[in-house]
Amino acid sequence: MSVHSPDVKKVTTHKIQEMKVRGEKISMLTAYDYSMAKLIDMAGIDVILVGDSASNVMAGHETTLPITLNEMIYHASSVVRAVNRALIVVDLPFGTYQGNSKEALNSAIRIMKETGAHSVKIEGGREISKSVERILSAGIPVMGHLGLTPQSIYKFGTYSVRAKEEAEAQRLIEDAQLLEELGCFALVLEKIPAQLAARVAQQLRIPVIGIGAGNQVDGQVLVLHDMLGITMGFSPRFLRRYLNLGEQITEAVSKYVADVKAIDFPNENEQY
Ligand code: KIV
Repeated sequence: MSVHSPDVKKVTTHKIQEMKVRGEKISMLTAYDYSMAKLIDMAGIDVILVGDSASNVMAGHETTLPITLNEMIYHASSVVRAVNRALIVVDLPFGTYQGNSKEALNSAIRIMKETGAHSVKIEGGREISKSVERILSAGIPVMGHLGLTPQSIYKFGTYSVRAKEEAEAQRLIEDAQLLEELGCFALVLEKIPAQLAARVAQQLRIPVIGIGAGNQVDGQVLVLHDMLGITMGFSPRFLRRYLNLGEQITEAVSKYVADVKAIDFPNENEQY
């Protein structure tokens, strides 16, 4: 059965909870547009994150801070039109949920109503607990995100590994427990020591998805453009590149340019 048949079994927040219980790892990647989302859904990805990393890889900003709610809605709608099986999670962008819980709820409602996505993700722990509660009270599933939270990059100062010190590790454990108690359906842990991530995954009932957090968690997420080798000059230790698509694309385009200049393209068979 193809994943595009109407009978395909959709991945839900309950399904990924069951995957954790039976020890099946959860695969998650980002996508921001129709074509890529269609390909990764057909390949069998479990969860697609319309990440605010779109700010970096789609728009070329240095950080995730500038992307707007309208822009996230545009990306998420394109992804939703492509996907048949995967669970779709959409990042609430910087400045749309930290101010107050009513604003957070309004932002999450706009994402759900205007895109057709299945859930939202927000960064932070106790400091955003009211926003998490309020979004959940409207029946909108929430994925948490702790560790390196890129929307706080100017507070951290660097993209280096978080929670190496005991006090920060303890705070992260407490925040993870709080997010589960509030009702989050899953949690992303970014760039923290593998041992700490393993401990959190063991303690929580909800699935814990890691990025740069070792393999003793319930699933993995990567930025699609990083693992395909489209983004250049970004090689953190946790990143495995499955393709060198960037090189392949520039090679193909150089060939096309040369063919056009040499009047080799189009040839007789490529014209009417
Ligand atoms: O925006 C994003 O791509 C993310 C992942 C790195 C988890 O939040």
